[in-house]
Amino acid sequence: NSEEALYRPNFHFSPKKGWMNDPNGMFFYNEYYHLYFQHYPDSSKWGPMHWGHATSTDMVTWKEQPIALYPDELGYIFSGSAVVDHENTSGFGKEGKIPIVALFTYHDPKKEKGGGTDVETQGIAYSLDEGLTWTKYEGNPVIKNPGERDFRDPKVSWNDLRKEWVMVLAAGQKIMFYTSQNLKDWKLLSDFGEGVGNHNGVWECPDLFPLKVKDSDEEKWVLLVSINPGGPNGGSATQYFVGDFNGEKFTLDPDFKNAMVNEHDFWVDFGKDNYAGVTWSNVATADGGKLFIGWMSNWQYANEVPTETWRSATTVAREMELIKSGDEYRLISIPVEELSGYRSSKYKKENISVKDEVKLIGSETADLSRTEINFSISDLADNIYTLRLSNNEGDELSFGYDHRDKSFYIDRSKSGKTGFSENFANNISTAPRTSDAVNLSGKILLDKTSIELFYDDGETVMTEIFFPNAPFETLSIASENGEFLLDYIEVHELNFN
Ligand code: FRU
Repeated sequence: NSEEALYRPNFHFSPKKGWMNDPNGMFFYNEYYHLYFQHYPDSSKWGPMHWGHATSTDMVTWKEQPIALYPDELGYIFSGSAVVDHENTSGFGKEGKIPIVALFTYHDPKKEKGGGTDVETQGIAYSLDEGLTWTKYEGNPVIKNPGERDFRDPKVSWNDLRKEWVMVLAAGQKIMFYTSQNLKDWKLLSDFGEGVGNHNGVWECPDLFPLKVKDSDEEKWVLLVSINPGGPNGGSATQYFVGDFNGEKFTLDPDFKNAMVNEHDFWVDFGKDNYAGVTWSNVATADGGKLFIGWMSNWQYANEVPTETWRSATTVAREMELIKSGDEYRLISIPVEELSGYRSSKYKKENISVKDEVKLIGSETADLSRTEINFSISDLADNIYTLRLSNNEGDELSFGYDHRDKSFYIDRSKSGKTGFSENFANNISTAPRTSDAVNLSGKILLDKTSIELFYDDGETVMTEIFFPNAPFETLSIASENGEFLLDYIEVHELNFN
């Protein structure tokens, strides 16, 4: 049907049918990347949560699998994580089969109706067939509610130094740290969050992992914390903290703390549509980076976006690395390398002089609903560099960079269907440029309903969705203030057949 043709993403995972939100339980095992997700198969609006499931060998093309976890008498299955229990610390392994253990939040709708605060507890389940089918633990819940109304989204990892499991969990506006030897008995260690970071909403979906600082021997711990609302451009977004974790307590790095106080909050992505993202367990990139995926929507309007059969998609999977520039740590993200394996044709143009507006790509050059574009501009002046996607219906998506105040932006106010929510296109999203590189480089990923922008090698990222009345067919570039030189533009159409 027309909805499928117009809006079903070409290279972003979306469920065949029904509602999806957060990515959950991602692990890598035996050549397969697993992705579970908050899912309500019976409606395209949020409802009783299940864990849907999809698998992939490259994090780009996904095969949807049967539903992994169904709600039960303890409640809906909210977000959480999964680990490969190589040493069978849980004792769930049988006949030499390595158990995969999922840790999730039970959200009890009955208690919620009754107005209780003890609505959320933590449960576990295990799989002995590599994540396809699951058995819930009979001793659930493994963590009772300590009197926190919001108490959810356990993310677990193995601490190799101390030979124990570590869990981070979001509770209201703080992160709680727990430890366990067997994934069943959990001990509270500490909490983090008071007085630091953004507190304009509820903290959700944390993640904790160490990363090497690029080009150094230093290792730092990164704590991801999603917050809703409170995002830099409204609604949902994911902040991050850089510091140290001694096995018991997370402390902010002093340089990072200074930068937060003096400059800005730190966001994984400044666009409106990358939320609740976390990283894969049991895998790292060749450089020791972490692999991340987010939910490509925003609670402000996720239930209203104009698709009926399914709702929402994931972001493209990304590699996360940590860099230090001067005194500032920055978490960078770029699309996973595997995506470039899908490049089919290439088109490159150099030294384009841009005055007013110049057409760069038309449908004869590339299908703009499955394209990767790289560009660079080296002589930055007091100018606004505007890129514009358009179609024959008069829809337009504008994005670019204003060098006068060093900020990136996306304007989707004329991008097609926008009226389904007053929060969808009421503001132009912006992001401060942190890099002071002399040239501005960017990578643009375009799908039917999404744009993902990676500027300055992933230092500033913006992800947003849109719903044009017809596919975008033209990309042009404009100068608002005199002439400038576009050093090059390189266009790769991506082929997924
Ligand atoms: C984040 C979130 C989680 C919760 C899940 C419920 O988007 O609110 O905190 O576990 O969604 O679907």
